[in-house]
Amino acid sequence: MKKVLAVVLALALTLSVVGMAMAEGKVGVAMPTQSLQRWNQDGENMKAQLEAAGFTVDLQFANNDVATQVSQLENMITNGAQVLVVASIDGSALGTVLATAKDAGIPVIAYDRLLTATEAVDYYTTFNNYKVGQIQGQYVVDKFDLSNAAVTGPFTIEFTAGSPDDNNAHLFFNGAKDTLQPYLDSGKLVCLSGQLDFETVATPAWKSETSQARMDNILSAYYSDALTGGTTLDICLCSNDSTALGVTNSLVAAGYTAANIPVITGQDCDVANTKNMIKGLQAMSVFKDTRILAAQTVTMVSDILAGKIPETTSTYDNGLIQVPTFECTPLFADVSNYQSLLIDSGYYTADQLAD
Ligand code: GAL
Repeated sequence: MKKVLAVVLALALTLSVVGMAMAEGKVGVAMPTQSLQRWNQDGENMKAQLEAAGFTVDLQFANNDVATQVSQLENMITNGAQVLVVASIDGSALGTVLATAKDAGIPVIAYDRLLTATEAVDYYTTFNNYKVGQIQGQYVVDKFDLSNAAVTGPFTIEFTAGSPDDNNAHLFFNGAKDTLQPYLDSGKLVCLSGQLDFETVATPAWKSETSQARMDNILSAYYSDALTGGTTLDICLCSNDSTALGVTNSLVAAGYTAANIPVITGQDCDVANTKNMIKGLQAMSVFKDTRILAAQTVTMVSDILAGKIPETTSTYDNGLIQVPTFECTPLFADVSNYQSLLIDSGYYTADQLAD
């Protein structure tokens, strides 16, 4: 009897401790759009994990429209959000509404994309964005054995970067470009279009249609005889999967197949791109497990609301302040490891990746 009582008491104590640990509070989560795959996952992960921790969640998607995101944030503030988690469309365009949050004492966490040109941002959770580009660039170096003195090439390469209003896009591009620059300098890599600066190769709003149209133009202007024994296009360095998808669609429409398609890089392991990797139409991607980013952000929200200083790993300069940042690690993905990375880990089901 004594033993039973002790167990019941221990159970009650555990439950009350768990109860006390359950957080309370309202968290506003602003996501950029549902039109790009990853933000749907981020939104779902954040909502599920915040709710599991005991928070009430106001999750909004802004259809890639800055004015919509501003008004969603204003509503979150008015409706009593105690923390804002913001994945911006244009990282530099939210200064006024973020200042309102700051005046109201509401902490702001920049989610995945840095909030720039404002002092009203407290923390940043993201992946090591420069490293994403380095992984893509290093893949090309290894694939073509560029560091081997006996390999002279030249190999042709075209670049496709992301949206200029997204701070990440610059970091991805710089990481890849810095890794490949020695080989552009030595002539082992040649960019026939000459389009090598970020502004020229950028893709506003990360749209597949835009990167596809640009690649259509590049193919007809510089590689029109590639499939008939002329100058081949060897590498398409794309910063992420939505831009890689457009480039792939352009190449496939021009008659390329898995047998002769250039090496195409990407990022995010979107479903469509992972299927392309399996089919041999995209060489690699970079996996950023959005479950981990969400978990880290939820820990940060809990710490902030409990009055604790959240753990950070680095700082990002947003033009005005150094923002304390927690960086997660991006991982290389290709056809050889997608099974363990994406399916065995439960990120996707095998059915989702079946054609
Ligand atoms: C970036 C993000 C990438 C990619 C891109 C387009 O900010 O870090 O993972 O998804 O936006 O959505």
